Amino acid sequence: MCGIIGVLGFHEVAPLLVESLKRLEYRGYDSAGIATVNEGRLDRRRAVGKLVNLSDLLVHEPLAGKAGIGHTRWATHGAANLGNAHPHRSGPVAVVHNGIIENFRELRAELAEAGITPETQTDTETVALLTRMFIDRGLAPREAAVATLKKLEGAFALLWLFEGENDLLIAARKGSPLAIGHGAGEMFVGSDAIALSPVTDRITYLAEGDYAFVTRAGAEIFDAEGRRANREETRIDLSSTRVEKAGYKHFMAKEIAEQPVVLGDALRHYLTPEGVNLPAELDFSGLERLTLVACGTAFYACSVAKYWFEQLAGLPCEIDVASEFRYREPPLPAKSYAIFVSQSGETADTLAALRYCTEKVQKTIAVVNVPSSSIARECDLALPILAGVEVGVASTKAFTCQLLVLAVMALKAGIDRGHLSADQVQGHLDTLRALPGLMNAALTTSNDIAKLAERLAEAQDILFLGRGPMFPLALEGALKLKEISYIHAEGYASGELKHGPIALIDRLVPVIVLAPHDRLFDKTVSNMQEVMARHGKVLLITDSKGIAAAEGTWAQLRLPEVAEPFAPILYALPAQLLAYHTAIAKGTDVDQPRNLAKSVTVE
Ligand code: M6R
Repeated sequence: MCGIIGVLGFHEVAPLLVESLKRLEYRGYDSAGIATVNEGRLDRRRAVGKLVNLSDLLVHEPLAGKAGIGHTRWATHGAANLGNAHPHRSGPVAVVHNGIIENFRELRAELAEAGITPETQTDTETVALLTRMFIDRGLAPREAAVATLKKLEGAFALLWLFEGENDLLIAARKGSPLAIGHGAGEMFVGSDAIALSPVTDRITYLAEGDYAFVTRAGAEIFDAEGRRANREETRIDLSSTRVEKAGYKHFMAKEIAEQPVVLGDALRHYLTPEGVNLPAELDFSGLERLTLVACGTAFYACSVAKYWFEQLAGLPCEIDVASEFRYREPPLPAKSYAIFVSQSGETADTLAALRYCTEKVQKTIAVVNVPSSSIARECDLALPILAGVEVGVASTKAFTCQLLVLAVMALKAGIDRGHLSADQVQGHLDTLRALPGLMNAALTTSNDIAKLAERLAEAQDILFLGRGPMFPLALEGALKLKEISYIHAEGYASGELKHGPIALIDRLVPVIVLAPHDRLFDKTVSNMQEVMARHGKVLLITDSKGIAAAEGTWAQLRLPEVAEPFAPILYALPAQLLAYHTAIAKGTDVDQPRNLAKSVTVE
């Protein structure tokens, strides 16, 4: 979603603002802009499309000043055009914003009564107009910003800059994260540590409801009630914010290739030579139920984990997408844990679902990639997935690391509940430990997949089929493909095929069958035969035991054998590579697909 940066520096800030916005590109955006104050004068430059357009504009129309704010906009209210691009300005006020001002229509009506007319379709402009209105009524910038904040409803991060104020930024956080960076006599504000990492490793995260007056001398922070608040300054590990392609053409390619290494790191963290290494307070023995909530790919990780918790631990497990769960208001047994899975830890719906569960369940648990995120901080317990920064909008290494952490939790649940024998536990531990090596072998299929992808790229529709825990992987494979190649794709449980989707099958519809040689293999093969009997073009992804069933298929991919039930962790890799190479064959923007954002901080 939108990225925010603010700098009170010693030097010209425009290049630094653009550089920081580049680091926020991964969040997804469709226009960008900066504003500076130079010798008291406020001015701005904005451009639609990629940041290079803003950089080009700045070459022809430079912007001087040592204080400034910048923004990448992911359109919510109003088209992605120049007028709607941030910073928004009204008189002496410029403001950038991430999130949604939910009551902006009411506020517009109030402004109209005061004779003030908006010029854009955005909710953000309302903030600039209100602040200006308060300044016109005699309030100083700080008072005007606070008065404005009191009127706003919704979830947002805001950053103000004012004409005549070379040494003031005002930041506010409600729902969307915002961090203050401390330099030597310079100060910064950013959406996340990644944006601030070129300039400082000293970060203070604003808490929910906080606002801050930032000058070069430091930041005064206030809580939602207007009381002075002390928020801890932390040092971030700059290596954890490194965003480089390291010789790969795309972040997604790098992140796919990194999986054996990051999964190995996570394994070393969560397994000891003796067994599972999870906090002792995580005790599944007396639980009646687990609830897992997430969005997108993280939801599919939960969907796979449901099979694991139920099979390995006999623990009833409910899963839901966060946007449904939060308004469904489901009853939750007190003897239950609620688990929230999120790469970013900032997904608005998942955060809202967590808040619904707080106080209702015995424990809320975050499975996140960003330990400083809102979801991590608001849960009773946070388990990092240790995937490292994921930049590609299509989630890859975060997915397999989420699966790994959930697999280890399911094993612990099986042990706590006496559902697994010592031999079974040992067998599952061995399977998990073998995964990085198997993943390395699976990655060698990349060239074969690239060739198949040239044919897949011609398709209008593609189906993915799987059974058992491979069914959610079929859903994930379809999501990955559609989000970066823009080819319509659906995932189905193989057994559902004849209940409708088989009507789609003809020579033009590739069907990708994800089928390790497990106890359900023969049933999946029967479904595959039904597809081939109708001239469907089947790509079978299986192992050396299953490959004998490939006769008559259009193509096959052979993966190493992996013991049940953890095959989805391995089979995720060819699914990701299929999406990646098909997108390459189609020439789409792999790392920043159209319309998508990396971190979805609005509902
Ligand atoms: O940061 P989160 O894991 O909470 O994000 C959830 C989804 O937005 C995310 O997984 C999305 O579906 C990805 N683009 C999938 O590749």
